[in-house]
Amino acid sequence: MYQPVTPAIAEKLAAIVGSKNLIYQDEEKLENYSRDEVAEKEYARMPEVVVKPNSAQEVSAVMKLANDANIPVTPRGAGTGLSGGAVAAHGGILLSVENMNRILEVDLDNLMVVVEPGVVTNEINETLKEHGLFFAGYPMSLQSCFVGGNVAENAGGGRAIKYGVTGRYILGLEVVLPDGEIVQFGGKRVKDVTGYNMVQLLVGSEGTLGIFTKIIIKLLPLPTTKIDLLALFPDVETAINVVPRIMTEGRLVPTGIEFMDRLSISTTHDYLGEKMPYPETNAALLIELDGSSAQQLRDDALAVSEILTENGAMEVYAAETPDTQEKIWKVRRNIAEAFKAISPVQSLEDIVVPIARIPDLMPVLAELQQKYDVLIPCYGHAGDGNLHATVVKKTETDINVWRETLPRLLEELYQKVFALGGTISGEHGIGYKRKSYLPLVLSEAEIALMKKIKLAFDPKNILNPGKIFDLT
Ligand code: LAC
Ligand code: ZN
Repeated sequence: MYQPVTPAIAEKLAAIVGSKNLIYQDEEKLENYSRDEVAEKEYARMPEVVVKPNSAQEVSAVMKLANDANIPVTPRGAGTGLSGGAVAAHGGILLSVENMNRILEVDLDNLMVVVEPGVVTNEINETLKEHGLFFAGYPMSLQSCFVGGNVAENAGGGRAIKYGVTGRYILGLEVVLPDGEIVQFGGKRVKDVTGYNMVQLLVGSEGTLGIFTKIIIKLLPLPTTKIDLLALFPDVETAINVVPRIMTEGRLVPTGIEFMDRLSISTTHDYLGEKMPYPETNAALLIELDGSSAQQLRDDALAVSEILTENGAMEVYAAETPDTQEKIWKVRRNIAEAFKAISPVQSLEDIVVPIARIPDLMPVLAELQQKYDVLIPCYGHAGDGNLHATVVKKTETDINVWRETLPRLLEELYQKVFALGGTISGEHGIGYKRKSYLPLVLSEAEIALMKKIKLAFDPKNILNPGKIFDLT
């Protein structure tokens, strides 16, 4: 049984982090920390207290106190997550890393950067620009998310086909363990096989194994040129069917291939207060190419355009200036927010399949839409097989019917995705929201092993309990 945060505990916490870095018995302020970007209200939970430590030592002292007193602690970045990972599912202490927001070192000799977890991801690249370097992690919320959350979720995003996901760039972590011990895994080393690969175990552990206090990130040279192609299609199937061909026939790996269906495009334009420029479009692909040879890039863009046109694109526009590129990406980046604002009764999904199976997904979504009488607009990272089908309640459907329908629909969707060689989350995580579905895609033995790892780190199960799976 977890213990409550009593006034005496709150006082001890205030002594650790300073009273201005603590929120207690203030419903209105606590409320801001009760949810992430998940639209469904049932995944919101009020923490009993919020603490905002300033250093690894303070994080450690909070964990020691919580571990001794048996109080759950939920670590939190910017709260932009999409699986309830940063929500205090069992109440207790919510530990926000917002004050730990310094870029500690730009190491030009090693091509690395050392940051605290509360740095806004985009700020890293703003700082690196003048050095001609960049961090290739590219979550869609990069202008608001924190890098600590990106590491905890192993965030993916729009450039994974070429650059991979966040974890590829994480070489070292300073971590506070659930009992308050501070450990260093990895370091400024490109190679390291000294024992288990603890860095990559912590990456994507959804805040259940430790709290990052320092992150060492590998950098790449910043590409000097970039072309975005916006291809418009008469229907969803035609657009999706081209995706694997861009790579197989084109023999090239674009930076990203993003897909948007009509409803995604029009909803986001409405949300942004902008007019939809090509109203006859039913689906679009946004193909991003980057590199350091302008000529090579133009040749690649031409080759891709030909493949698009030969395979049914009605129009292909090339965006070669930062302004036009930003315009297209702005729409793409705001789709999730737009749907949340306009259709709050929804479930944003994060399914992923091998890229060659992408065309097989569309008929599955169409069938479920019919069978369960819901809307399933779809967009996402088609180039890496990760699509955000968003199951949306029709206005006329009774809310109780929706509540009863959704779990059945999701179960059927997940089973079908699994049969295609896919799984239930490509980048948002299992968290709070998908834990009941984990047994659909992982065996009993696999889940049992994960639980043993969790207990090895956190025998009292006080760090972010109730996420990924429940421990009984
Ligand atoms: C995106 C978020 C929802 O791709 O992952 O926009
Ligand atoms: Zn995404």
